[in-house]
Amino acid sequence: MRTVSDFNDGWLFEGRDIVRLPHTAVELPFSYFDETSYQRTFTYSKVINNDPAWAGSEVSIRFDGAMANAQVSLNGQPIVGHTDGYTPFVARLTGLLQDGDNTLTVVIDGSENPGIPPFGGAIDYLTYAGIYREAWLEVTAPVSIGLHKIETPDVLAEAKRVTIAVTLDNPQALDLSGSMTATLRDSAGSAIATQTIEVTGDALNISFAGLTDIALWSTDNPALYTVTLDLTTPHGADSVTTTFGFRSAEWRPEGFFLNGQRIQIRGLNRHQSYPYIGYALGRAAQEKDADILKNELHLNLVRTSHYPQSKYFLDACDRLGLMVFEEIPGWQHIGDLAWQDDAVENVRRMVTRDWNHPSIIIWGVRINESQDNHDFYVRTNALARELDSTRQTGGVRYITDSELLEDVYTMNDFVLGEYEHNPNRERMGLRPQQEVTGLDRIVPYIITEYNGHMYPTKSHDQEQRQAEHVIRHLEVMNAGYADPQVSGTIGWCAFDYNTHKDFGSGDRICHHGVMDMFREPKFAAYAYASQVDPSVAAVMKPVTFWARGERNIGGVLPLIVLTNCDEVELRYGNNPPKRIKPDIARFPHLPHAPVIVDRRHFTAEELGVWGMMWEDGEITGYVNGQAVATARFVSDPLPTTLEVAPDTTTCAATEATRVMVRMLDQAGNKLPFMSEPVTISVTGAGRLIGPATAPLRAGSTGFWVQATGPGEIAIAVSHDRTGTTTQSLTAV
Ligand code: GAL
Repeated sequence: MRTVSDFNDGWLFEGRDIVRLPHTAVELPFSYFDETSYQRTFTYSKVINNDPAWAGSEVSIRFDGAMANAQVSLNGQPIVGHTDGYTPFVARLTGLLQDGDNTLTVVIDGSENPGIPPFGGAIDYLTYAGIYREAWLEVTAPVSIGLHKIETPDVLAEAKRVTIAVTLDNPQALDLSGSMTATLRDSAGSAIATQTIEVTGDALNISFAGLTDIALWSTDNPALYTVTLDLTTPHGADSVTTTFGFRSAEWRPEGFFLNGQRIQIRGLNRHQSYPYIGYALGRAAQEKDADILKNELHLNLVRTSHYPQSKYFLDACDRLGLMVFEEIPGWQHIGDLAWQDDAVENVRRMVTRDWNHPSIIIWGVRINESQDNHDFYVRTNALARELDSTRQTGGVRYITDSELLEDVYTMNDFVLGEYEHNPNRERMGLRPQQEVTGLDRIVPYIITEYNGHMYPTKSHDQEQRQAEHVIRHLEVMNAGYADPQVSGTIGWCAFDYNTHKDFGSGDRICHHGVMDMFREPKFAAYAYASQVDPSVAAVMKPVTFWARGERNIGGVLPLIVLTNCDEVELRYGNNPPKRIKPDIARFPHLPHAPVIVDRRHFTAEELGVWGMMWEDGEITGYVNGQAVATARFVSDPLPTTLEVAPDTTTCAATEATRVMVRMLDQAGNKLPFMSEPVTISVTGAGRLIGPATAPLRAGSTGFWVQATGPGEIAIAVSHDRTGTTTQSLTAV
């Protein structure tokens, strides 16, 4: 039988420290650092004691991800190399282990080697060195279950089918016979069908037909099923369980159809990076990101820009009903033929790793924003289609009139930012499809990026700029919803990210997110969140810090209130309240236009009261006549509460938990320009990721607490004026 054990503890790093995976080779400051500091080699080693019980078995180590070029050796003998930082690889140890202790060494080269994708040109993100995902010790029978692809043809028919194509791993080329049983189970674990076939070779096909009472996977109801494969051969047994879903995903000229129904895509791009620790956060953080995208931002799709991301992230997308656009690593640059061969292999690695995820609805098979390259992209498309005939291909470009070798024209349309720089441009959210494609016909089409570098906005930027940031996100979404030829819009981007000196604000940050690097929302986050149906969550976020003189000239008008409420009521001091409805004239196509309070809503006399004396404010959102959300603002904000908010109070003994720190005023609002330092202490069964003294940025900061084993973790955060706030976490 297969055993898979955690192989993450006890790695000797650089002959110096004992570390646990996931691990980043160099922890970085929050900003203004030298990004070449990790662009060199690092050595990890670990002792493996050859267990006599492994005799006759296949023994290997599976690495889920190491950046960027990993070379593995056992007792000094090279065994395998892997030149893709984003996909798993296996070091087969069978027959190589000596009795007793053996040393496994992994040399990671974090340099930007122009021979391997994505490197060779400038890249607007960082590729932090390290064994930054988990590793597993796998012991199996000599013949075991290898790749298996689960497909659900005809999902819209009454009686459904499942086909499973299995490849057996048989590295010793042993004679094959025996049987394989496949069992389908629903999410409660009840078996719904089972079937046994004879093993006749290393490629096996099992199919089920006539399945009824099957729930389809959708964004509202992400129903999941499992297949358990049980293999018995004269060489032993194996068993693997894989999750899948029944759904159809189809891109047509008329839009994107999930299970035959058109669904407008509302998404953002995600980089998998975090402050300080780069890529090296494990399961809890990966799952939290999916949760934020689905349940805080209320998106229905995420693009894994610009590479395959963690399996934990994708598993969470499956469970939460968050669709995924996944793509191969790359950024604008296409290298020589050998480089292209490697990129084609990246298509294979991505598709075969991830083809069973119902959340993935398209493969991105171009280097993001590269120029056309006929021969190269004929190959990437052909391979994706050969491996997976159920998903269409896309390939993200910013060029117009590009050769469409993919099924979907996937376009980064930054036109909204152009009007300021190009006298011939009107302000517009998106270009018409055919102006972009240059084709004589309408094709499946989606906007894969907008805004980003056209309007970088920091969480501590002036309120007026943040209001414009909000408007731009709304305008592009509105344009997407307006145009039936646009399947949807995927904005740039969800989270701020560290980058090279050649991009961003010089601080090594692209402040392009609707959330900051800690995933703390900027106002623009609510442009997305407020599009959800109020029955899921009532959203009401005034785009203001509520101050007399923060905006040019002063006051807070025009005041955008991002909301899915029917109307909002504004109270200012003791003046009579105003009820104001969403501005559907300005944003007619959004599911939920914002309320925009401006001079139209006041008489000249009333405007007079917005004088020099600043008063408290209160804004309440109403749905069906019921007050569902209220925001209160004080006119004299002071640091009142130092909030310390961990994502959870119980964490796995191996995981890292995000903790947010916020300085709140008397009404519980963040103090947006509070930049004083806090000091952080973590004691007990955990360690602090990040510095022990950190400034608040836009009134908040964050850190992660890495559990170091089971036990209690005490967290204390102190600020000179407000004192110390404590929290505790239990690692189990
Ligand atoms: C795009 C690119 C993204 C990011 C973005 C910034 O050109 O695909 O990776 O750099 O611009 O707006």
